Amino acid sequence: MFLPTDHSKVRTELPRGCTFDERDWHILAGFWHPVAFAHDIADSPVRARLLDVDLVIYRTAQGITVARDLCPHRGTRISAGWIKDDSLVCPMHGLEFGHGGTCTKIPSVANSQGRIPPKLRLQTCLSQLRYGIVWACLKPEPIWQLPEWEGIGNPDLRNVYVPNGTWYASASRHVENFNDVAHFPFVHTKSFGGSPAEPIPPYDVEHTDFGLRFAFPYHEGFNRFPDGVPGTERDVVYTYELTFPFSTIIKIAPVGSDYVNYFADTVCPVSARETRIFQVMTDTTGDPDDEHWIKDALLINDEDKPMVEEQRPEELPLDLTEEIHIPSDRMSLEYRRALAKKFGLGAPISS
Ligand code: FES
Ligand SMILES: [Fe+2]
Repeated sequence: MFLPTDHSKVRTELPRGCTFDERDWHILAGFWHPVAFAHDIADSPVRARLLDVDLVIYRTAQGITVARDLCPHRGTRISAGWIKDDSLVCPMHGLEFGHGGTCTKIPSVANSQGRIPPKLRLQTCLSQLRYGIVWACLKPEPIWQLPEWEGIGNPDLRNVYVPNGTWYASASRHVENFNDVAHFPFVHTKSFGGSPAEPIPPYDVEHTDFGLRFAFPYHEGFNRFPDGVPGTERDVVYTYELTFPFSTIIKIAPVGSDYVNYFADTVCPVSARETRIFQVMTDTTGDPDDEHWIKDALLINDEDKPMVEEQRPEELPLDLTEEIHIPSDRMSLEYRRALAKKFGLGAPISS
């Protein structure tokens, strides 16, 4: 019923009811993760959850602030408040917080300005805006970079934002599926999958400064590209670039034209078994057809989602002896190895 008065016992960063292994949580908290599309942060505060931490995201004239969704006065969820006079107002006693979480007004105190203790501020976290996405990091120093996305970051090419989806699966299971090439003919039968009779050619995975890269030729069973090349099927070359831990861009180059399609996928680990999907695409037309590409992405996601949500165990097994691998799993093996060896994720739980 009460918090102990010994603060050393309660002042932990780990969120209550944390669904992650404690060591994994601390490692993942050091990365940048997507928490919102910038276009969704307008004149009201927005809720997000990252690694079991409830966040509020709000916009003032100086930009976007990301903070724990907790009023420092009496602990209510400040995201239930509103924006007034360029400040976020708490719905309970009306305290106002400006850009960066500083308290600017206590309505129940006459002339409160100048009488506000510095401690009375929102617990903000690192945030930045890139590719139309708000990224947050829960640690004071990020341990890894944001992805560098060719195409998506080119101001001459307009981006298309796919509406967010939520998958009841771990972020790493989602990412591994996004980088898996052998499931196309079986899962993507309505969107782009080719013939199941065609074997997957061997491919190499390159380790880069930011993550992993591989290229892979494929015969799509549909022609979904607006480059004027006739036909009902297409040969393409995919180049995948994964930035640890959960961001991937696929550069899709259909054979027969100079057209290139850029499709980026980055996901927010909401909890150990819930993942919010952020996808952005563009192409060398510079003005991609929103309706066509959103429909295409949502269809592909609908095909993948039930497969991934039903994988067991829900956690990605980083011990390679846990599942059986086939040659087309080259990327998945490198991904699992890197998460364990490079970052220490999935370490045995010490008793
Ligand atoms: S709980 Fe927010 S102002 Fe009191
Ligand atoms: Fe897929």
